[in-house]
Amino acid sequence: TIFSNQVAASKAVARRIADLILARQQTGEQAVLGLATGVTPIQVYQELVRLHLEEGLSFKNVVTFNLDEYYPMQPDAEQSYVSFMNKHLFDHIDIDKANVHIPDGALSREKVEAFCLAYEQKISAYKGLDIQLLGIGRTGHIGFNEPGSAPNSGTRLVTLNDLTRSDASRDFGGKENVPTKAITMGVGTIFKAREIILMAWNAKKASIIKKAVEGEISADVPATFLQLSDNVEFILDTGAASEL
Ligand code: GLP
Repeated sequence: TIFSNQVAASKAVARRIADLILARQQTGEQAVLGLATGVTPIQVYQELVRLHLEEGLSFKNVVTFNLDEYYPMQPDAEQSYVSFMNKHLFDHIDIDKANVHIPDGALSREKVEAFCLAYEQKISAYKGLDIQLLGIGRTGHIGFNEPGSAPNSGTRLVTLNDLTRSDASRDFGGKENVPTKAITMGVGTIFKAREIILMAWNAKKASIIKKAVEGEISADVPATFLQLSDNVEFILDTGAASEL
């Protein structure tokens, strides 16, 4: 779906999330959201905060799982995805923090594997994610599933691509400070979501969007695996869609 601008697109995505939450409230169930970081989803989160503050949308029945976290990363560090999510969403809504799940970048190395397995099991215990939000990196990564990621990959520790670390360098005051690794949900984890929404804005994402949508399906561009899913929608502005 191509919107004329990212504000309208973000509001439409937020509305879909709000409608899911409201539908689940009617039946007394929880809504399970897979959330993404990066600049792309910020306006979705702003709109969800607005719906909470101005229209009384409650997040008490919402459970969240974030896609990824840098490794190593202390949760209270400014660049952590924990800080990002608190700043843009969780600090402004009535979600129960016990329902918030973000990969733990502060674990010692020998504990990471068991953590990743438990993360998968927790998602399964909630019967999977209702909606998974995604951005896309310039390497074609979704979450931090860099080129070479397998379509059936699960939550795991990965090595970040050089281009990804360059793109993150501004947040860290230099590429040398960007962690070399991350914990990410796998492509297979993302695929289990009942609905996947990939968002991209601006012409700088146009060429990777073209590859993801129209390119050959290949681990060289992990987002191409989304072509294999019936439950995925790309939500783009005219800039990101300009090479399609
Ligand atoms: C990071 C995140 C991804 C995100 C990507 C794009 O690498 N781990 O989940 O999709 O950045 O970021 P942005 O939305 O800032 O372009």
